[in-house]
Amino acid sequence: GTKTFTMIKPDAFADGNSGAIIKMIEEAGFKIEAMKLTRLSAESAGAFYAVHKERPFYNDLVAYMSSGPIIAMILSKENAVADFRTFIGATNPAEAAEGTVRKLFAKSIEANAIHGSDSDENAAIEGAFFFSQLERV
Ligand code: GTP
Ligand code: MG
Repeated sequence: GTKTFTMIKPDAFADGNSGAIIKMIEEAGFKIEAMKLTRLSAESAGAFYAVHKERPFYNDLVAYMSSGPIIAMILSKENAVADFRTFIGATNPAEAAEGTVRKLFAKSIEANAIHGSDSDENAAIEGAFFFSQLERV
């Protein structure tokens, strides 16, 4: 698809890495269609990651994702979803390829700096979770 959704996660924002990550995103050819700084409540984080509700790490993930501000963005590019997943690298930074956002900035499999939608369908759902029509170009 031509659009994906991303969040700069609380660890990367708190570390002051947002500017470097946004610069990498733009240099990789992704165009910013919407952007906001916000903080998820535990309830919102739980809803966003509801697909992981039965996983053993769900409660930790919800606590982490609501622990501080995040930057949410809708991005556009040809083949956006797959290309962005490649660009950010593996979930576990120990397995992430050289030069990826997670290799450069992630601290652990949980505090892994950035989110990327895993399908066109989820990109649309996640974008609509954060942004109204007025908030996107
Ligand atoms: P997202 O782009 O954030 O969705 O990451 P992903 O698609 O690479 O991974 P996945 O959707 O499987 O997991 C969602 C998030 O849960 C991850 O990005 C991590 O922040 C966290 N997570 C995944 N696996 C583990 C785990 O084994 N332990 C812990 N503590 N957190 C995990
Ligand atoms: Mg995922």
